[in-house]
Amino acid sequence: MSTGSSTRVITTHKLLEMKQRGEKISMLTAYDYTSARIVDQAGIDIILVGDSAANVMAGHETTLPITIDQMIYHAQSVMRAVKNPLVVVDMPFGTYQGNPKEAVRSAIRIMKESEADAVKMEGGAEIMESVERILSTGIPVMGHLGLTPQSIHKFGTYAVRAKEEAEANKLIEDAIALEKAGCFAIVLEKIPAALAKRVSEQLSIPTIGIGAGKWCDGQVLVMHDMLGLNNTFSPRFLRRYGNMYEEYLKAFQNYVADVKSGDFPNESEQY
Ligand code: KIV
Repeated sequence: MSTGSSTRVITTHKLLEMKQRGEKISMLTAYDYTSARIVDQAGIDIILVGDSAANVMAGHETTLPITIDQMIYHAQSVMRAVKNPLVVVDMPFGTYQGNPKEAVRSAIRIMKESEADAVKMEGGAEIMESVERILSTGIPVMGHLGLTPQSIHKFGTYAVRAKEEAEANKLIEDAIALEKAGCFAIVLEKIPAALAKRVSEQLSIPTIGIGAGKWCDGQVLVMHDMLGLNNTFSPRFLRRYGNMYEEYLKAFQNYVADVKSGDFPNESEQY
């Protein structure tokens, strides 16, 4: 059952306090009821209903095709499961880049229909007006800088970002501007660890890294990647906490074999 954000244990304010006392913040993606329940029980601080659902749930090459209706469906499923973590929902590509009015409409739809706690948006100066308008409605916003997968066709590659001074300086300026605008945290994706350290030290709001090194205030991974469900994706930053691809495969193979042999169901598995 959704408990609503008023009873949420982790709040944006608590995240700020965690940074202040040097307590690391854990964040993981989830897209469905069953796995969100387990993630909640594990004690995660933030669940991100990421638009990476486009990749790991729907099999798309990029995050671009996922729609706002699909994101709301995933967010509703997660919200029915969780009590403790703050739930952040990615605003999907095309729902906020165009104009601030449309951005506000999209964010309000996500918050009203999913009852999640916050939205996440990719980009800096170029989307600042939309960020400010959404914040002015009272919706908490998490920023996302560095490798921003919704811009993959501009970058042309998923390689590490901001290695050059000019891009690193722009990232720092964007991070400061997002904090000034009122964002409660910023995801830093695939940037040099030294740059993430500089940003984390300059900001009072928490940074959450993915491929951004150990000095971020928190870390995020995509659930399917850290579980080893996706056996074709092995970037350097990914630590696998399981080999679920093999576990699933073994279970499915055993089931097929048991059905074929007539071993399943047995006497005690029938009425
Ligand atoms: O969509 C997603 O899963 C994300 C994380 C990689 C931060 O944005």
